[in-house]
Amino acid sequence: MSIDESKVLIRRCAVLVFEPQETVEFDLQELVGGGDGLRRTLRWQALAPHLGEPVAVDARQRELLGRISPSAWTALDSLGEERGTAQALLDSGLLVARAPGLHDAHRERDERLRQGYWHPLGAVLHAFTRWDGVDAVRNMHESGTETASKMRQVLGEPPAEARRLVTADDELIRLPEVPHSDFDALMHRRVTCRNFDASRPVPLPVFAKVIERALAAQAKVEVTGDLVFLKKNVPSGGGLHPMEAYLVVQNVEGLAPGLYHYRADVHALEALPAPEGGLPEFVMEAVAQQHWFGDAHVLVALAPRFDRTFWKYRHHAKGYRVVALEAGHVSQTLYLAATDLGLGAFITGAINEKHLERALGLDPVTQGVVAICGFGWRASQMTVAELDPACRIWA
Ligand SMILES: Cc1cc2nc3c(=O)[nH]c(=O)nc-3n(C[C@H](O)[C@H](O)[C@H](O)COP(=O)(O)O)c2cc1C
Repeated sequence: MSIDESKVLIRRCAVLVFEPQETVEFDLQELVGGGDGLRRTLRWQALAPHLGEPVAVDARQRELLGRISPSAWTALDSLGEERGTAQALLDSGLLVARAPGLHDAHRERDERLRQGYWHPLGAVLHAFTRWDGVDAVRNMHESGTETASKMRQVLGEPPAEARRLVTADDELIRLPEVPHSDFDALMHRRVTCRNFDASRPVPLPVFAKVIERALAAQAKVEVTGDLVFLKKNVPSGGGLHPMEAYLVVQNVEGLAPGLYHYRADVHALEALPAPEGGLPEFVMEAVAQQHWFGDAHVLVALAPRFDRTFWKYRHHAKGYRVVALEAGHVSQTLYLAATDLGLGAFITGAINEKHLERALGLDPVTQGVVAICGFGWRASQMTVAELDPACRIWA
């Protein structure tokens, strides 16, 4: 279909932030010329969450974007000499067109972002902190920070382990020590597990119990046919429970290894297509090559549906923070649930979100992975360090 450009209407994408960015590169000429050998280049980049990748813009483009409404439609024709600049912005997706066949994908993604009611800064933070192809272990190695003592050497003195407001101990108002219960003992046994025993499958009832405790709905409240609140063991902003869980089952008796979506409302699994390239490779890429999580019997990708929470908290300054905090609640509950059953658990924020989105078919404008946790039997030997100074797990 040919497009009559004289009739094209345009507007700016819904959310856009500019970042003045400096890149620093080694430059021999600079060094020979008596400088510090570094070439510094400054440029503006546009961060538009519906695109997911930064776009370099020049001064003319930046200035034009500041003059085009993101809500009212403007005739492309009315821009006169600036039409060429506008065309380049349409090509990059920073402007969107109301004309079928003209950059439809950009317009559709922009529409979905608008309908998601993101706070603009939450949207930018989420979109531009997602990883793809990152190897967190190599990065740690290259920065020389893979052990605590090397970290101290490389990073210098850290802020103190606890803040002290009074200097004299007798000014402290000491609190009573209440006798410990089984609950204290359980919490003290919670140690992030980095050593899993791949030779021993987790029985199905044990798997089901951990999942039920951390993720299942215990009850529901139906306000109207379409407004339903689930009650879970974890708190949730507005009671909306945006957190979805995608399970990577690697080693559970009676469950085929693979990807599953967990249905919290009915405590059931929905099977998903197998990831390309095999499950072990998928897992390693998901956890950014942290091999110590590779043998976990079950991994749980926590993937909130932002649009569920933002349906109520529209453009809310706290929206993204609240949703991210909820992953911590689920994770801690999963740790305790697993620990109670004699298993080890973990959480990692070092994840390749884009890889997960592709495999799970998630649209990052409405849903994205914010953390991966997991659980399984601990190995008999600690090969990778765990933090157990009181020897609650490792005698
Ligand atoms: C949000 C979050 C992200 C974490 N990410 C990682 C990670 O990427 N890799 C890892 O090995 N441990 C990760 N951990 C686990 C911490 O390293 C661990 O909690 C810390 O060392 C204290 O040990 P403990 O959990 O046994 O008390 C993470 C913990 C939290 C709460």
